Amino acid sequence: MKRTLLIVALLVATTLSAVADKGMWLPSLIGSRIKDMKSKGFKLSAEDIYSINQASLKDAVVLFDGGCTGEIVTEKGLLLTNHHCGYDAIQALSTVEHDYLTDGFWAMNHAEELYCPGLKVHILQRMEDVTERVNAGETREDIIAKAEAEGVGFKAKVESMYYGNIFYLFVYREFSDVRLVGAPPTTIGKFGADNDNWIWPRHTGDFSVFRIYADKDNNPAEYSADNRPYTPKRHFEISTAGIKEGDFTMIYGFPGNTQEYITSDAVKYIAETSDPTKIALRTARLDIIGAAQSASPEVRIQYAAKQANIANAWKKWQGEVLGINRLGTYDKKLAYEARFREENPTKAYLLDSLAAAYERNIEGYFNYELFNETLRGIELQQAVAIALSDKLSEEDKVARAELFYKDFQVDVDRALAVAMLTEYEKMGTYISEELKALFARHGGAKEYATWLYDNTALGTLEGYRAADVANDPMAEFARAIAPIAQRVKPYTYRNLSNIPDIERWFRPYVKALMEWDTKRAFFPDANLTLRVAYGKIAGYEYADGEYHLPQTTIEGIMEKDNPEIYDYNIPQRLRDVYATKDYGRWGVTMNGKYTVPVCFIATNHTTGGNSGSPVLNGKGELIGINFDRTWLSTMSDIEFDETLCRNIICDIRYVLFVIDKVGGAEWLIQEMGL
Ligand code: ARG
Ligand code: GLU
Repeated sequence: MKRTLLIVALLVATTLSAVADKGMWLPSLIGSRIKDMKSKGFKLSAEDIYSINQASLKDAVVLFDGGCTGEIVTEKGLLLTNHHCGYDAIQALSTVEHDYLTDGFWAMNHAEELYCPGLKVHILQRMEDVTERVNAGETREDIIAKAEAEGVGFKAKVESMYYGNIFYLFVYREFSDVRLVGAPPTTIGKFGADNDNWIWPRHTGDFSVFRIYADKDNNPAEYSADNRPYTPKRHFEISTAGIKEGDFTMIYGFPGNTQEYITSDAVKYIAETSDPTKIALRTARLDIIGAAQSASPEVRIQYAAKQANIANAWKKWQGEVLGINRLGTYDKKLAYEARFREENPTKAYLLDSLAAAYERNIEGYFNYELFNETLRGIELQQAVAIALSDKLSEEDKVARAELFYKDFQVDVDRALAVAMLTEYEKMGTYISEELKALFARHGGAKEYATWLYDNTALGTLEGYRAADVANDPMAEFARAIAPIAQRVKPYTYRNLSNIPDIERWFRPYVKALMEWDTKRAFFPDANLTLRVAYGKIAGYEYADGEYHLPQTTIEGIMEKDNPEIYDYNIPQRLRDVYATKDYGRWGVTMNGKYTVPVCFIATNHTTGGNSGSPVLNGKGELIGINFDRTWLSTMSDIEFDETLCRNIICDIRYVLFVIDKVGGAEWLIQEMGL
């Protein structure tokens, strides 16, 4: 109890002096930031952001598909998120005949909305500090079980904040009947693709539209044709009034993972070992997948979502290393630690203990990361897992296998296996005796991989159906890597620093930092729980003498348009609209030109998981959908730099323009009350 109070008191105290836009704040404690927010242009109260007594903005924010954010914009459960967040669902519904990725999809009424199997959204009911209960010995499982018994579809989680100094209970409602309502063609939704990803200036219409369905009592329910649109407690109002540099912006969503308080050792590991290794491994995988995709339209669709996932972090890590080096984060951390030692001699041992803990765990964590990036990426082992599972019913196995083979090409997987096993042989120090024996028997990793794919019968769905899976060479491979999976399991944490043997030293260290560095604004690191970040719309100096304006327009799309390049080949419909300047009510005059706004940037502190988050103005109205950060600012997960860190937002006016003028789905605009 005392400890919680002390930390909360410290939090409130530190915030008074904080002026930076950095930080991702817990909504239930946002009261401590309100003064600062108001001074920057926020017009509402803390209760408007988060309340358990009345409907508040938090009731309109959803955790989308377990890793993104979405926002409810009508009283009929209409949901906006990013195109890349809906991508898996859109891809799963696509075939060569109905290619919703390439052509887009627009339901013209409720009956045409498409159920997305497996897609779930979570809406937060409440959050609660349970530190006392945890410290009194109540288990997380008990706390969760009690909370889940409170209502239909309740799902609970207990999350630690500040490395186990505080614990919070989050109670959600889980909705599993979610339907696709609309998606622009990929050449709008993923315009510029990997080339433009993590880059400003940007012209991507990265949005898609879904709807939450509920049973007749408005409760979460499995899919049923009888379900009806969910009536939310609250939905966002949309503002089309426009924005300008300097305006207040706030973002409300589910950031996944930051490492603000790590020590120099962890920074060194990230910048010198982890990121470079993962980047190189992914370059190899992307080369293989990319070559197969350019050779076949079928493979292009099958591997689209896989490719996008691999490429995304691959590019982000490159920006991160660049940023860490540019900012000198490692040296800054060293200097900070030296100052801490000097001013807290009795606590200096904490840093020594942390360093020793890193030393003990770094090899294990590296092997865990390596396992994920190499062995786990060999997909055909999934066929074995499905066939031999003792948890799945026969019916489920049939369905899973069909789903797996729908997006699988054995030649691609063979090439990946050859490359990844070769790399694993070079770097893996947690290799199993079984895998070693297989390498030895065939004369090396490469030779073994070739033999494996020459001899497995599981390469196709037909082969799989006829095969004796338990005696297939792929099953032998799965058995050989199982001990490696077991060995790296103790290192399976969000970050290196969350490994319990390290985190137990972080707990007193971060607490000591809070007591010592009272000028610093201590927000809890992101952990996929609901947060508020705020800042302003702002351009930035990208390089010496090169200022980047905060807003892009349709003119930039036309400049990039190129029918020869898949990722820049915009739909003809968009060209036609541009040619006639038929912008309807979405047209604006900017700098003397009649145009349509497309994207903008702001200083909100965001990270992965904030994709799809509502970006709000000072009145709490929706002005855009967050979808990215600029490349030079991806190191904000470790160090946030005001001068360079910008999040990238799709302007809500462009979203509406595309729905209306490209999709022809005027009924959705009406539903949004515009
Ligand atoms: N970079 C954004 C985020 O981290 C968008 C990713 C989707 N786009 C892509 N080309 N893969 O997730
Ligand atoms: N695109 C990211 C996501 O999927 C958000 C960008 C970021 O990492 O800031 O959450």
